[in-house]
Amino acid sequence: MTRHAGSDTALPSAADALITASRGVLLSMSKDPDAKLTYVVTSGSGPGRVALKVPTTPRASSAVEAEGRMLVDLRRLPLGALRDTIPRYVASHRECGTTVLVSTVVPGVPMSVGYHRWLHTARPAAVDADLAGAARWLRVFWRQTEGARVPLGWATTVRDDVAGRWDGHAALPAALGRLAVAQEELAGHTVATTAVHGDFWFGNTLVSHGEVSGVIDWEAGALQGCPLRDLARFALSYCLYLDRHTQDGHRVLGHPGLRRTSFGNGVRYGLLGTSWFSAAVRDFLASGLEHLGLPRGLWYDVALVGLGEIAATANDETFGAEHLALLARMPARPRSEQRQP
Ligand SMILES: Nc1ncnc2c1ncn2[C@@H]1O[C@H](COP(=O)(O)OP(=O)(O)O)[C@@H](O)[C@H]1O
Ligand SMILES: [Mg+2]
Repeated sequence: MTRHAGSDTALPSAADALITASRGVLLSMSKDPDAKLTYVVTSGSGPGRVALKVPTTPRASSAVEAEGRMLVDLRRLPLGALRDTIPRYVASHRECGTTVLVSTVVPGVPMSVGYHRWLHTARPAAVDADLAGAARWLRVFWRQTEGARVPLGWATTVRDDVAGRWDGHAALPAALGRLAVAQEELAGHTVATTAVHGDFWFGNTLVSHGEVSGVIDWEAGALQGCPLRDLARFALSYCLYLDRHTQDGHRVLGHPGLRRTSFGNGVRYGLLGTSWFSAAVRDFLASGLEHLGLPRGLWYDVALVGLGEIAATANDETFGAEHLALLARMPARPRSEQRQP
């Protein structure tokens, strides 16, 4: 998950040449410390509808290289109906230690555009459509890429990573305590390995006619991993920005009980609230688990581990620390009436 702002930073010459020969739009620059510019070519004498991803730091460049490899590797999988929803690798231009990735454009509008429209997330039908669209795409992705069932070791990995990154942080002991409970609940279960997007949130999904028509930004992708990672990431990010357009201290319209006060209130509300929204989020997680042959009741543990994963992997230190503190503030267990959504 990244935060975006417009930018007019100069581009390296390989990208510049392509852009000069075309018309297009500079879409965004992520504000995280490993920012990239994305330029989408809409017309011109170049190779047509392609997206250029231009890193601005060495670490961003490595991430873009990893994305290029992932896009190539994904094509070797039997993607079935998802083929046209995933960008194709076109080229990478390397100069002065920086790699510019060129990939095809996938159709649709980022789900984030709808999400941030006035009162979109206050409307049950709109929220249901977003969650259902993401769930449908994920299920096909899992089916097309699934391997053997293996012991569910995701919580253990995340716990180790969180402990390694946040050694000495005041919130660490409580955060590890939450993860230990989740780890215990998840232990003993098995799940099929699948390919993993790694940053499956509504800003990286494009929608068209009510379906997910594109999934972009495969920097953190893996050919084999735990499918619960994408499930959790989508649910958590969908809750996180609910208060984005609300003034500090004020109530979030359409969401009784939710106020914009401290970081992550939307996540707490989405997981533990009593509204239709919270029920929809819990059902998204529980139904995903059921689809993977796991008990629905593990939804809360999956959400806690998902928070831990963001704390462990976020590029932005503050964003990671905020997730660590949020995890530490979460109750170890949900109230009993929420346990079986
Ligand atoms: N292949 C693509 N097809 C269509 N739009 C794209 C594509 N790649 C990027 N975009 C647009 O550029 C934006 C940023 O791209 P993304 O790969 O998510 O970069 P970042 O790593 O900075 O988040 C997306 O939100 C989307 O609007
Ligand atoms: Mg992105």
